Amino acid sequence: MQRFSQSPTDPAFVQNPYPFYDRLRTAGDLAWWDDYAMPCAASHRAVHAILRDRRFGREVPPEMAPTIPDHLDAFYKVEAHSMLELEPPLHTRLRGLVLRAFTSRRIKDLSPEITALTHEKIDTFPTGAPFDILTTFCQPIPVIVIARLLGVPDDMAPQLLRWSNAMVAMYQASRTRATEDAAARAAADFSDFLRRYIDTRRNDPRDDLITHLIAAEEEGEKLSTDELITTCILLLNAGHEATVHTLGNGIKTLLETGTQQIDDQAVEEILRHDPPLHMFTRYAYEEVVLHGHTFRRGDQVALLLAAANRDPDQWPDAHRFDPTRPVTQNTSFGGGLHFCVGAPLARLELQIALPILWNRCPKLRIAEPPVYANTFHFHGLERLMVQTS
Ligand code: HEM
Repeated sequence: MQRFSQSPTDPAFVQNPYPFYDRLRTAGDLAWWDDYAMPCAASHRAVHAILRDRRFGREVPPEMAPTIPDHLDAFYKVEAHSMLELEPPLHTRLRGLVLRAFTSRRIKDLSPEITALTHEKIDTFPTGAPFDILTTFCQPIPVIVIARLLGVPDDMAPQLLRWSNAMVAMYQASRTRATEDAAARAAADFSDFLRRYIDTRRNDPRDDLITHLIAAEEEGEKLSTDELITTCILLLNAGHEATVHTLGNGIKTLLETGTQQIDDQAVEEILRHDPPLHMFTRYAYEEVVLHGHTFRRGDQVALLLAAANRDPDQWPDAHRFDPTRPVTQNTSFGGGLHFCVGAPLARLELQIALPILWNRCPKLRIAEPPVYANTFHFHGLERLMVQTS
């Protein structure tokens, strides 16, 4: 297996990781990434296959469980019940309960609210002056939608965003002790808030996700209060972060390429071409020989979702943004058991918000060269300064 060295915090890589992904992919289905000290999959066929291979999973094998330092206790107390960090049977139970309360009809019913919210946010845009569309449009829409779906008041949205950003920073290559302290504090405060909020909802049920999940909790052994709290935090965190940056990256690309026709096909191309989450890892649970490499139990493999999406074997001229490209399955939402629960909601938000934005602001243009934040494995802009005239 060929070895590659590439710092994930190198500014040139952060701004454009795709040339490095090309180098990895030309070396074969698996290449060794020195900086992560693990093999990584960059071809579409390898990423697609490993995501679905039950001999690999996200849950840390028990014999490898790390000792949690005291200062991170609150953070990992929340993570311990996250379906994203678990495999069957725990994963099946938690995911099943969420899916039961998160039906496609329920998602579709959000369309009028997403439409109204999109217009409301566009109404606040300044005329004739540059502004950051990331904070005025891309952030508030997904945060408010997921908060409403769960049943958390709109005015909590900025606080949810702060907690969420602090927790999610734990997964960035640039993580420091300060990041860890902030994440643990956010996890503790977020949990306290939800514990109190869930108690209020118990006595005042509504037609929202928290009430549905409480019902599942009260049906018996199905969902403990700690699991309920973690599930709400996971939905709130996962429910906006990636959508915010798909909107940001998408608006940037649409403006840079002068695209006018924004339909469902263009949304799929946005998701394929410059997704917000670039890498997830898996543990091998047994000895597996794959693409000439032998994985032992506990070995990790990195799946480069954004590299798979630029595989020329799957998409001709893969680096080109082509909104008329026939839609075939990209890996931006993952695949297999952990396939994104929120994919239908994220798609709906993008399919509603972007065409309205283009209709209402036909002269929208970039006012300042956009810069990606140094937050690998996330890939999103620091800000996106635009102007409507
Ligand atoms: C464009 C926006 C989004 C993208 C690109 C995205 C991407 C992903 C990916 C790649 C995974 C799988 C990670 C892995 O396999 O290791 C995932 C899982 C997940 N996503 Fe999303 N997501 C988005 C929006 C959302 C939304 C809106 C929600 C919630 C409402 C959500 C909730 C979740 C949850 C709960 C999981 C864990 C599923 C499981 O472990 O079974 N995501 N997402």
